[in-house]
Amino acid sequence: MKALVLAGGSGTRLRPITHTSAKQLVPIANKPVLYYGLEAIADAGIKDVGVIVGETAAEIERAVGDGSAFGLNVTYIAQSQPLGLAHAVLIAREFLGDDDFLLYLGDNFILGGITSLVDEFRANRPDVQLMLTRVANPSAYGVATLTAAGRVAALEEKPERPRSDLAVVGAYLFTRAVHEAVRAIAPSERGELEITDALQWMLDHDRDVRPTVITGYWKDTGNVADMLEANRRVLEVLEPAVDGTVSTDSELIGRVRVCAGAEVRGSRIVGPALIGAGSVVVDSYVGPSTSIAENCRITDSEIEFSIVLDHASITGVRRIDASLIGCHVEVAPAPRVPMSHRFVLGDHSKIRISS
Ligand code: TTP
Repeated sequence: MKALVLAGGSGTRLRPITHTSAKQLVPIANKPVLYYGLEAIADAGIKDVGVIVGETAAEIERAVGDGSAFGLNVTYIAQSQPLGLAHAVLIAREFLGDDDFLLYLGDNFILGGITSLVDEFRANRPDVQLMLTRVANPSAYGVATLTAAGRVAALEEKPERPRSDLAVVGAYLFTRAVHEAVRAIAPSERGELEITDALQWMLDHDRDVRPTVITGYWKDTGNVADMLEANRRVLEVLEPAVDGTVSTDSELIGRVRVCAGAEVRGSRIVGPALIGAGSVVVDSYVGPSTSIAENCRITDSEIEFSIVLDHASITGVRRIDASLIGCHVEVAPAPRVPMSHRFVLGDHSKIRISS
């Protein structure tokens, strides 16, 4: 079995906060989202991986290399334009041959990996094994409806009135039957060869499409609240470790990882929290669900439930909460402007002023 990882797409910066224009490299708990996918693929026992790359090929290739760091053999497949997920399958035909394969969207994050999906597929070998998850806002996703027997009955792309809350997750297993489908479909209104159309074609032609329902899932929506939540979920299972230095007047509570070369002085860190390599935390409080990336400096500050990216510096600020702070950002208090209060206070007044 092979894997086809989609890490192409146009390099439009979806949000101003990432240091990268490849959305597959957005960090969750200090690690690009794509790495979680590659690790999950290796865990599922797949070795040969084709990676579809587009405009951001150089960034992706720099981050993934030949795949050996993940125990994978990576072959890059260039896609001249992002013409759709099914188009990516079409152009990967030579790499895929007639093998079964996993199609994995490189910007998707699947908590708990894909081993259960792969095992289920290997046991039954249907034409397609889809991963589904219940979501609160199905209109933002491809949505599946199931038959009474638990097979996939129909699929709808971003339906206005969804008929179920089962969203299609960005990991699909196919036999070679999919190649006929991706050749048969026409581009959609937005000019893309849609994988949903290929799946619908397979349903219409009585192919066996089976679901695996999972619980932990995150799709890159470019939304800060979602990123903080994915970060929080990963930190919850972080292995605590101190590879950097922690002064005796500091306190680490709960799941805290202080990476090599990081330094914590006169500070209190309440986990789950991650202090990246080379970062320095001095006279500060770092609270739960916070990831500090590499070479950051947090001084005389308080921060919790936040993500701080490489080389950021925070000095004299309290308290930062639910925030995403980009690379090389500097946060410091503004100089105090002298304030005055002008009063006409009657006899016996009692007033309270916050200062
Ligand atoms: P998205 O652009 O998110 O694909 P989508 O059709 O799911 O988008 P939306 O829900 O916004 O309609 O891309 C998913 C992943 O696939 C992402 O890592 C980029 C990659 N990709 C390619 O490699 N080639 C392509 O042609 C497309 C469309 C996406």
